[in-house]
Amino acid sequence: MHIANERETQKLGEKIGRAAVPGMVVALIGDLGTGKTTLTKSIAKGLGVTETVTSPTFNIVREYKSGRIPLYHFDVYRIADPEEMYELGYEEYFYGDGVCVVEWADIIEELLPEDAVVISIDRGASEEEREYTIEGPCTF
Ligand SMILES: Nc1ncnc2c1ncn2[C@@H]1O[C@H](COP(=O)(O)OP(=O)(O)O)[C@@H](O)[C@H]1O
Ligand SMILES: [Mg+2]
Repeated sequence: MHIANERETQKLGEKIGRAAVPGMVVALIGDLGTGKTTLTKSIAKGLGVTETVTSPTFNIVREYKSGRIPLYHFDVYRIADPEEMYELGYEEYFYGDGVCVVEWADIIEELLPEDAVVISIDRGASEEEREYTIEGPCTF
């Protein structure tokens, strides 16, 4: 999927948020600055989250409960070993009642549920263009 600018990323995120169902895991793969956090903020908006979504870099996971269903926002960039995911009890999140959005999901690829929606983001020809590759049970 071709994304022309940041507004289109936001529109897609809101659509994902509106279509999200409990237990959904959205795995985001893409370099720094490709728009993973931007997309996540819009997913939150689509879910009706009223809290400000900030990058969970130092916490690995942040929870937002003000939307239609809970949002669990992971940023696993600083995980050195997937073992750390067990320590934070990731299974409760991935197989729970909310939507999980995971930035840098390639780092913990082996822990992703089989039915995760995997979104790979590549930079496009211009500063604002992106190419999205979406795999998995896409309901949006
Ligand atoms: N099409 C686009 N989608 C998302 N962000 C974009 C786009 N074009 C430019 N940007 C800019 O790129 C940056 C993306 O940052 P961020 O969402 O934090 O990325 P990441 O979480 O992948 O590191 C923002 O400064 C945003 O304004
Ligand atoms: Mg980010």
